[in-house]
Parts: sequence; C-alpha cells; structure tokens
Amino acid sequence: MARVHVTTIINDDPVDFLCDTEQTLLDVLRDELRLTGSKEGCASGDCGACSVTLDGRLVCACLVLAVEAEGRAIGTIEGTTKIFGSCCIGVWCVYAWIFGSRKVLVGAKS
Ligand code: FES
Repeated sequence: MARVHVTTIINDDPVDFLCDTEQTLLDVLRDELRLTGSKEGCASGDCGACSVTLDGRLVCACLVLAVEAEGRAIGTIEGTTKIFGSCCIGVWCVYAWIFGSRKVLVGAKS
C-alpha cells in the first residue's frame, strides 16, 4: 500500500511524515515520531489518555486519522516543556497538560 506524505506542525516545529491511510494520529505520534507522551488506553475515545490538540482543539488522537493532520498544528504533552520547562515527569505532566490546554482554551475565548 502506498504511504501518504503528511506535512504538519507539531509542538511549533514543522514535521513531515509518511503514514498509511488507516493509521491513527496516535499510532504515528507514538510509533513513527517517538512522541510517546500520549498513551493508548481505550482506543475508543472514552479515556482521554491519547489527548492532543489539533489546531488548538483538544481531540482524542486515537480517533483521528494521521492523514487528517495534513496542514494542521498538533500539540502533544511533550510540547508543554516549552511552556512549563523540562522538569515535569509522570503525573505532573498530565496536570501541566490539562492546565496548559485549559489556559489555551480559556485564552482563546477572551
Ligand atoms: S485511547 Fe482512550 S480516548 Fe484515545
């Protein structure tokens, strides 16, 4: 099967990747790009372990096809180190991600 070339911005950096048309964004982030902060829990959009932002909106990466990321901006938990520094690990990153996402969302409304 031919792979699709996708051009994105991930955590404010331009990133190109090749993917299969049926690959989820979560699979590409974790398996191809080694951005493993987003986890696979339920794989059905229920748990939120795979949360990323797509053009500033919080989405479940397990429900988004990687090809849908073409030309769009993705934010992962790894990108929070640009906001909060590189000291957070584990559960603190989750809090930072939630707080950071809320800050972005609330800031976008005002
Ligand atoms: S893995 Fe649970 S919502 Fe995506």
